[in-house]
Amino acid sequence: MKFAPASVLVTGGAGFIGSNFIHSFIAANPGCQVTNLDCLTYAGNLKNLTAIENNPDYSFVKGDITDAPLVAQILADRRIDAVVHFAAESHVDRSITGPEIFVRTNVLGTQVLLEESRKHWQSGAVEGFRFLQISTDEVYGSLGDTGFFTEETPLAANSPYSASKAGADLLVRAYHETFGLPTLNTRCSNNYGPYHFPEKLIPLLIHNIINNKALPVYGDGLNVRDWLHVRDHATAIEVVLKTAVPGSVYNIGGNNEWKNIDIVNLVCDLLDSRLGRESGENRRLISFVKDRPGHDRRYAIDASRLKNDLGWEPAYTFEQGIAETIDWYLDNQEWVAEVTSGAYREYYQKQYGGGAR
Ligand code: NAD
Ligand code: TYD
Repeated sequence: MKFAPASVLVTGGAGFIGSNFIHSFIAANPGCQVTNLDCLTYAGNLKNLTAIENNPDYSFVKGDITDAPLVAQILADRRIDAVVHFAAESHVDRSITGPEIFVRTNVLGTQVLLEESRKHWQSGAVEGFRFLQISTDEVYGSLGDTGFFTEETPLAANSPYSASKAGADLLVRAYHETFGLPTLNTRCSNNYGPYHFPEKLIPLLIHNIINNKALPVYGDGLNVRDWLHVRDHATAIEVVLKTAVPGSVYNIGGNNEWKNIDIVNLVCDLLDSRLGRESGENRRLISFVKDRPGHDRRYAIDASRLKNDLGWEPAYTFEQGIAETIDWYLDNQEWVAEVTSGAYREYYQKQYGGGAR
């Protein structure tokens, strides 16, 4: 039978994927309460949610997922019956220069959410309950030229970011095996789309091209990533939340592998025409730079379990998704300018008082 949550706690809902998920979920589930718990790090931006901030189904709590009393209070007061856990430090490069916060947020934060969820669920306060851990294909490590990650691929994380996500995934597994907590775990490939912080490859390329800045390509540019539109990720999460059997793990991907340099060339070329530049002009901005340490060579997802068990498939073609994404960034230059200058933090202060960290 389908699980129909009435009150969902979304963590990290002011970030890239979390905010896209909230938009999509609220539109599809009128009457279901959505509480967004986010401490607003540099990556959290409430402007991503202005379109629904006055929706009666939506509310925001500024707080940290490592704050156990706060998490317990939210779970009890709002009779939460589903936790969709996005909150994380998410950028591999930052995890190389400062890994501690990745362990604190991604491992300890997940443990706090699991423990408080366990107590809340065991108290019998709600009838059904699900804890959905949003994770990444990066927990599986790196592939060679062939093969795909399946849900049975052993975890072999290589960066502090992916190690912290793998640690969290194992805690989720442990809470299911040990306490019977009804957990779910999804592992998705690289996302792209609106509200993506311009430190990640695709929005960084768009932003730098518009501003005539160099496009840093790490190493030889031949690393491969498997790209999925963020709105497809959002629908997959909803399907898993409502229909997957507790304890299960699902890979999410779009069968859409690209070498980094091919993505860079494509984005350059699509922006040549949109910016009225000569054909090939933007490619002159490409600059090969020193490789990322421990740079995973190739990610590729086998998402057949999700298709076969739950019938989910992506709706976007990459051609459509990348064109729409580029147009979104061109139409939302103010959002990009505020994010890159940090001015978006003032918005929080005006709306809610206090300060973003
Ligand atoms: P993001 O960095 O854009 O957003 C993270 C959000 O979490 C921000 O709003 C931030 O303020 C919030 N946050 C961070 N620490 C917090 C804390 N201690 N307490 C409360 N809130 C906190 O990240 P994203 O790209 O949207 O990724 C969301 C999730 O999806 C992450 O768990 C990530 O590992 C996973 N994921 C991301 C991708 C991708 O391509 N971006 C792919 C697969 C999986
Ligand atoms: P990124 O968007 O950081 O995602 P992830 O490391 O989680 O896959 O990077 C995507 C790919 O692009 C990755 O192989 C690293 C590469 N990359 C660059 O070549 N230049 C850049 O400036 C960035 C941010 C990434």
